[in-house]
Amino acid sequence: MTANDCFMNPNDLIQQTAEIIVSSKHVVALTGAGVSVESGIPPFRGKGGLWEKFDPLEVAHIQSFMRNPERVWRLLISEMKGILADARPNPAHAGLARLESLGKLKTVITQNVDGLHQLAGSRDVIEFHGNFAMLRCMDCGLRVKTVDVAMTDMPPRCHCGGIYRPECVFFGEPIPMQALDRAQMAASSCDLMLVAGTSAVVQPAAFMPVMARQSGAVVIEINPEPTPLTGSTSKYLVRGKAGITVRRITDEVEQMLAARR
Ligand code: APR
Ligand code: ZN
Repeated sequence: MTANDCFMNPNDLIQQTAEIIVSSKHVVALTGAGVSVESGIPPFRGKGGLWEKFDPLEVAHIQSFMRNPERVWRLLISEMKGILADARPNPAHAGLARLESLGKLKTVITQNVDGLHQLAGSRDVIEFHGNFAMLRCMDCGLRVKTVDVAMTDMPPRCHCGGIYRPECVFFGEPIPMQALDRAQMAASSCDLMLVAGTSAVVQPAAFMPVMARQSGAVVIEINPEPTPLTGSTSKYLVRGKAGITVRRITDEVEQMLAARR
């Protein structure tokens, strides 16, 4: 990060980011809860974050789920189910899907479990923390769609009597092997990583931009706030909400590509 990068005005950074995207050969995005805030899903940290209301180790750790699944279902998951059921993609998801269809974004590595990237049309999505769309019976392994399960009894049970758990990754659980392998492959082979809407404090997701940087890629952040990556791993931070920022960057990319034809 050079000194002038820090103080360029956001419009120039939008333009500069679009130029870097157009000249890159393998672009990957890492997204976090911040890209879904404008879809009405609260983030975990910072203003209005879920972890301001709940203690994550109490309601999002596998041991607390195994100890008292009903409590976790009541506290966290039914809150999430309500929010997730109504959420729709916002311009941040749509912009990343458009970059992919323009051939200027290969993969989205997302920490989110809301499925909004896929709903917006992104095809290559790595769900680093699983997803909330599916539940799995802890006894017989039956997988069902979350929307198909009436949340009348807590915890929801399979017809075999087993308790359902969501297919998202709880704290204290490993990242699904295939997701981790694919994300590491993407991070180490890209020449540009866009990091949008993540506080970059949860490992190993937060190491993906570091891995990309170590492999020679440029890392650019899109976030209203700086993160531990800012000023060290990322070339610069485009300060702003993901919705408007990703849309403006994607508009610029589209114009630059059209001008080349
Ligand atoms: N646009 C872009 N970024 C935003 C917006 C927005 N409109 N609103 C908030 N942000 C930023 C915040 O500044 C913050 O940096 O999004 C980030 C949200 O951070 P977190 O809530 O910590 O979300 P995330 O980084 O995805 O958390 C990582 O922690 O609790 C676990 O499993 C959970 O996947 C999650 C992981
Ligand atoms: Zn079962």
